[in-house]
Amino acid sequence: MSATVTLQQLTDQLEALEAEAAEAISAAADAEALEQLRVGLLGKKGRLSGVLGAMGKLPGNERPLVGQRANVLKTQVQSLLGERLLAVKQAAMEARIAAETLDVTAPPLGVPMGHRHPLISTTEEIVDLFCGLGYQVEEGPEVETDHHNFTALNIPPDHPARDMQDTFYLKDNLLLRTHTSPVQIRHLETNPPPVRIVAPGRVYRRDAVDATHSPVFHQVEVLAIDEGLDFSHLRGTVMAFLKAFFGDLPVRFRASYFPFTEPSAEVDVQWRGRWLEVMGCGMVDPAVLEGLGLDPERWSGFAAGLGVERFCMVRHGIDDIRRLYTSDLRFLEQF
Ligand code: DAH
Repeated sequence: MSATVTLQQLTDQLEALEAEAAEAISAAADAEALEQLRVGLLGKKGRLSGVLGAMGKLPGNERPLVGQRANVLKTQVQSLLGERLLAVKQAAMEARIAAETLDVTAPPLGVPMGHRHPLISTTEEIVDLFCGLGYQVEEGPEVETDHHNFTALNIPPDHPARDMQDTFYLKDNLLLRTHTSPVQIRHLETNPPPVRIVAPGRVYRRDAVDATHSPVFHQVEVLAIDEGLDFSHLRGTVMAFLKAFFGDLPVRFRASYFPFTEPSAEVDVQWRGRWLEVMGCGMVDPAVLEGLGLDPERWSGFAAGLGVERFCMVRHGIDDIRRLYTSDLRFLEQF
């Protein structure tokens, strides 16, 4: 026969259980500890089940007293467990938020590597090729005098060539340069020949924006002045440069006109079955040299100018010049 159990004993056990459960639950640190407590207190083999099991040994009239008390305790423990679970979850969330606070003043951990804009890398490639041929890099101001941009390049005030290069005037004699050719003049003003320079830079024109025009664009200017330079030097230099940049494409020189060169030519490259005009060039006009106080009987040379956007677009198969200026990373990240 198993030992007898009294009502008092079971009531005491339930009371002790209540006190212990309350203490253990409020001390539980996390959801896992609470789950263990729930199993230990209310589970099939838990403490409460133990008491209820022993209840069978009480006289029939005493059992409901223990049963009721046990039920109240069960509900009580369940709600304590629920409340505590909420509290530990909230504490865990608060700790996480505190730990993950974003300090916007903190120095960056790693800055993603950018890269050169395709117009810059194209300019650098062109300039590099001329440096390889012994040319020196020269730059000039974007705000230019009328004299350097036009007159000294043999484009006097009423010359029709000015119509094609209308620009933004800051004052009567001060304008945004329409080409990089004034760098030729500026360089020769302070550097006696022989000179070989390549001058990259931004230029401006009063042009409406469309797929092939922009009022702000980029050019590279080339100038060589020495004794005994003739058209074959110009042609050899341009051919060597185009071959290095585009590879072995058909090239043709077409007679043309520029006020500051004589003779003048435009150069076309055959690209995907079409002739594409890529640069202008010519032998520096004796009038330009004379204007600088250089004797054209002694000095001669050639000049060339090209648009960087055109070179960049052909090289990368870009269909619209505006893509180069809109800073869309989806586009720029392709280069
Ligand atoms: N400056 C000319 C332009 O912007 C391009 C050019 C043509 C430059 C012939 C030259 C040259 O140096 O010789 O249209």
